[in-house]
Formats: sequence, C-alpha cells, structure tokens
Amino acid sequence: MLQEFIYRSTLDLSPNSVVILDSAGKILYVNKKFTETTLFKYNEVHHKNVKDNLPYMCEFADNSVWELLINERQWHGQAKNIKKNGKYYWESVSIYAQSEENSYNNFYVIFKEDISEKIKIENQRTISKKMESIGHLAAGIAHEINSPLQFVNDSIYFLDISFTDMIEYIKTIEEYFKSNAGSIENYVELNNSLQALKDNLDLEFVLSEVPEAFVRISNGLGRVNKIITAMKRFTHSSQNEKSMVDINQEIEMATILTKNEWKYVAEMKLNLAEELPMIFCRVDEINQVLINLIVNASHAIADKKEMTETDGTITIATSIEGNDCKITISDTGKGILPENMDRVFDPFFTTKDPGKGTGQGLSLSHDIIVNKHGGQIYIESDFGHGTTVTVKIPK
Ligand SMILES: Nc1ncnc2c1ncn2[C@@H]1O[C@H](COP(=O)(O)OP(=O)(O)OP(=O)(O)O)[C@@H](O)[C@H]1O
Ligand SMILES: [Mg+2]
Repeated sequence: MLQEFIYRSTLDLSPNSVVILDSAGKILYVNKKFTETTLFKYNEVHHKNVKDNLPYMCEFADNSVWELLINERQWHGQAKNIKKNGKYYWESVSIYAQSEENSYNNFYVIFKEDISEKIKIENQRTISKKMESIGHLAAGIAHEINSPLQFVNDSIYFLDISFTDMIEYIKTIEEYFKSNAGSIENYVELNNSLQALKDNLDLEFVLSEVPEAFVRISNGLGRVNKIITAMKRFTHSSQNEKSMVDINQEIEMATILTKNEWKYVAEMKLNLAEELPMIFCRVDEINQVLINLIVNASHAIADKKEMTETDGTITIATSIEGNDCKITISDTGKGILPENMDRVFDPFFTTKDPGKGTGQGLSLSHDIIVNKHGGQIYIESDFGHGTTVTVKIPK
C-alpha cells in the first residue's frame, strides 16, 4: 500500500497527463494532471474503455495506432481531443506498450502534454513569417500585376481610338442617308467617299486588330486574376483545418507568386504527375513551404549567376511514392557547404545578408511538414552545383 501511495503521489506530481490502459483499452489509472486537463473526475473515466466510451481519446485510439503498437511497441504523435466541457485542445501523445514479465498481455502507458498554447505561439510565428514573405514578395507581385495591366491599358487605348474612328465612319453613312433620303443615285459617290475615309482611318487595320485587342485584354485580366487568386490562397488561414488539396495546382500558384524572384535568373520547369490524388493537408501552410523553397532556390541560383553570369534552372516534380505525395524542388544554384548541411534547418540559421533572409524558412517548413503533417523534408546538395529539397506528405 505504501508503495502504491508513493507511485500515485509521484505520478500526480507529473506536469504531463499519465494514463494506463489494460490490453483491451480499459482505463486502469489516470493521474491528477489528466483530470485537471480534461475536467473529467477520476471516477468518471476509471474502468471506462477509451475505444468505446471516451470520445476525447478517439483521435489516436483508432485501430491503426493499436495495430502499430503490436510490433512497434510505441507510438508518438499529436492529437486533437475534447475536454468534458466540449472545448478542443491539442496534445502531444506518446504511447508505450508494456507487458508483465512472462506474460503476453499488454498494457499501455500513455503520456500526454497539452500543447495548445505552444501551437498557438507557433501559429503566430508562422503567420508573422507568412506576412514577412508576402512583404518581401510584394514589390515583385506588384510588378507582375503591372505588366499585364499595361497590356490591358494599351489595348483599351487602341480600342478607344478605333471606336472613335468607327463612329466617324458610321456617322458619314448616316449623314449620307439623311441628306439623300429615298435616292440611291449618288451611291457611287458615297462609296468613293467611304473608301477614302476608310483609307484615311486605316479601318482595314483597325478591324483586323480589334479582336486581337479583346484577346489581349482578356489574357491580361486573366493573368491578374491568377496572381490575385494565388495571393488570396497564400494569405488565407486554414485555421488549422486540413482539406483535400490539389498539390500540383498549389505549385503552379507558388510559381506565380514568386515569379519575380526567379524569372531574371532561372527557367522554371514543372514535371507534375498527371494523376496526383488530392492530399489531405493545410493548404496555406503547404503554400508557405513551397514559397520558401522556391525563393531559396532562386537566391541560390542568383548568387551563382553573379559569378558565372549564366541562368540556372529550377525543376519542381511531383509523384506518388508509396503512401506519400513526393515533391522535389531542384535548383542548379550555388549549393550548400558540407559543414552547413546539419544547420540549415536550425531556426535563424542563415548565410544571407540582413534583409535578405532571416533563417526561418527551412525551420518553419520542417515544422509544417514533419510536426503538422507527419511527413518528411530533407535536403541533398552538391556544393557549387545545386540542391534538391524533397518533401513527402502522407496521402
Ligand atoms: N536551395 C538552396 N541552395 C543553397 N542554399 C540553401 C538552399 N536552401 C537553403 N539554403 C541555405 O540554408 C540557409 C537557411 O535557409 P532558410 O530558408 O531557413 O533561411 P533563409 O533563406 O536564409 O531566410 P528566410 O527563409 O527566413 O528568408 C540559407 O541561408 C542558405 O544558406
Ligand atoms: Mg529561405
């Protein structure tokens, strides 16, 4: 009894929730932190089965986790759970399958930490980095919007002049019929004066160019619309909710937003898998990763171009590999020094001049892909020749 008291009071001091389940998922024990966090009293959960009775544990109590535990013996992840009062909160969860000596009967020890606050702070950081990226890209985006608008403007100016000419032509016909009502005697005369007017106004040219002008306006506005849609998607917040996302489309959007970063130094090649399935993810976060990686590739190529004076190539490819959607972003830029390879994912590690980089792009991308999507991100680089970043997001 004394021993049990010692164990219990020790576990009650733990800053994390501790839950012990039997092999069937029945709760044998929860510590004080658990009851404080979930607002459930000990008696309300004791001997309840997490698989059947307790919705707030269901997020990680689905079958795949238990199946995995049979062989792996442990599971680590994040889960969104509900408190007794219906409020959601995020937890980091570690489950260990244990068995008594000489017994195949498992029991499970679960450690859970409420990470809602941490996630809130991280999200804040993600948002401020996003705002910073959009700030950096703003001048480029404005430029990208400006050039199609210039087309639109020129075409409207042309249509304006053409329209004035055409009105003059129509008015001449109208005048003629008004003053010669009912007679067609001076038809030849009308024809001649219209021909002269036509030549004078260069109406042949105007009529052949007008449809083109409308196409140019439509294309120009289409481009502006694309850029604005891309910006809206990027600045939109998914509020931590995942949805089905067409990754190929997001890649195209990211290349539009970053165009001014790469177009003077690199060619962009997209090798996008034709039948890529929709991926369940947080679209604004994935966009942020794509933008970070494209900007990094552009900077690496721009740096190399300063020495070689030749343009580089950025190649973005998508494919399905096993259970993952795989995205690779390769550049022919300056590459990463071998001694820096271990540090590039560190927060605030940068080799760029102040104002050009804050060293947060890769650390945030790592957090988004690994912690928030259970995926992988890794970098291979050949110093002097180029870099490939691979991102894998589970389907
Ligand atoms: N494609 C790449 N080619 C060469 N070096 C790279 C590449 N991507 C990242 N790096 C190196 O890794 C460092 C960290 O990258 P990260 O994106 O985290 O920060 P940053 O680009 O310096 O700044 P920020 O992204 O916050 O504006 C970069 O400063 C650069 O030295
Ligand atoms: Mg960066």
